Amino acid sequence: MTYFNKSGTIELREQERISIICGKCNIMDTIIQKIEKEQWKEEHFKTAIHILQSGGLVAFPTETVYGLGANALDEQAAKKIYKAKGRPSDNPLIVHIAHINALYELTAKISEKALRLAEVFWPGPLTMIFPKSSIIPFSTTGGLDTVAIRFPNHDIARALITYSGLYLAAPSANLSGRPSPTKASHVIEDMQGKIDMIIDGGDVGIGIESTILDMTEEIPVILRPGYITKSKIEQIIGEVIIDKAILTTEEKGLIPKAPGMKYKHYAPQGELTIVEGNIKRVIERINQEAEKKTAAGNKVGIIATTETKAFYKIGEVRCIGSREKEESIARGLYTVLREFDSIGAQYIYTESFQSDKLGQAIMNRLLKAAGHQLIKVE
Ligand code: TXA
Ligand code: MG
Repeated sequence: MTYFNKSGTIELREQERISIICGKCNIMDTIIQKIEKEQWKEEHFKTAIHILQSGGLVAFPTETVYGLGANALDEQAAKKIYKAKGRPSDNPLIVHIAHINALYELTAKISEKALRLAEVFWPGPLTMIFPKSSIIPFSTTGGLDTVAIRFPNHDIARALITYSGLYLAAPSANLSGRPSPTKASHVIEDMQGKIDMIIDGGDVGIGIESTILDMTEEIPVILRPGYITKSKIEQIIGEVIIDKAILTTEEKGLIPKAPGMKYKHYAPQGELTIVEGNIKRVIERINQEAEKKTAAGNKVGIIATTETKAFYKIGEVRCIGSREKEESIARGLYTVLREFDSIGAQYIYTESFQSDKLGQAIMNRLLKAAGHQLIKVE
């Protein structure tokens, strides 16, 4: 088999792909290939397609976050995803498609509402849950009778699915528990040596994962908020509900229906605290906390916005985006959390972002990253 990497062409046979670099642990020789968004040719996907068709793992960009792809209908390939990510095996994978017709093959029942949503929002950052058809192995759905389907709106993701002739099971391409990757460098950080290939297609556009909507209920339920908001969905199909377990600012023992939403997730290594309330008081309180922690010898990180960054007096201040443009905050969120890991911040404080639009998805991710640690100020 021939593989291409940055330094040229290397010849490898299947069994040689796992090279013993550290003796005890098997470290794979991960191919990293740059593919320019909207400037590629079909031949650029040759290696990736070969790997996927042979049951291997390829990370690729989508419009939301990078995904870690494998053949969704191949039980063994799907299992490799769990191993590479260190993901609990009851946490199902999203199946990525590149044509609406795939729904008829992958699902057992499609409602009228689902078809209307697909027409409006696909390709795009909306994942819908259906009863699964028998061709999808339980290793892909974490043992569930339902399957999550998404039609991504990224030319590289769509080309990979189309040219490979496969459906791709793809969770976010991070190690389980770490912030989702929004840049190829994030994927390299987490996955190099663990998967066959990483396609570097540049930074993603949206920065937080797709909205997940459970279409198996009479009134569809949002299991994970995202770029496609409740009101956008309601404009098309009428009433939808938000899974209560994902909205609480306190942990009340409610169990989210999406298995992945129950884990402490997107977590930076330092202790993250959200401070909520009047923005002037929030800044004051963050400055006080940062001073205390710094005086005790800790490294402190502060997540600020374009509008507020000048008011922080101490600690490593990072601007996540502008309050005027929620999209910029979504795009900056995971990069900032990862940056605090790389500088070794022990305590991180962030302002809160409450709103009924994209802010809801941002707060959902922050609350999970903070393990629900929240200070309310007047
Ligand atoms: O934007 C996205 O959705 C990204 C990109 C790569 O497409 N993918 C992503 O996958 O975020 P992942 O695996 O990191 O998150 C999928 C979430 C998990 O919380 C999982 O529990 C839930 O979807 N999920 C998947 N299938 C499900 C099902 N049948 N029922 C309920 N929840 C499901
Ligand atoms: Mg994920």
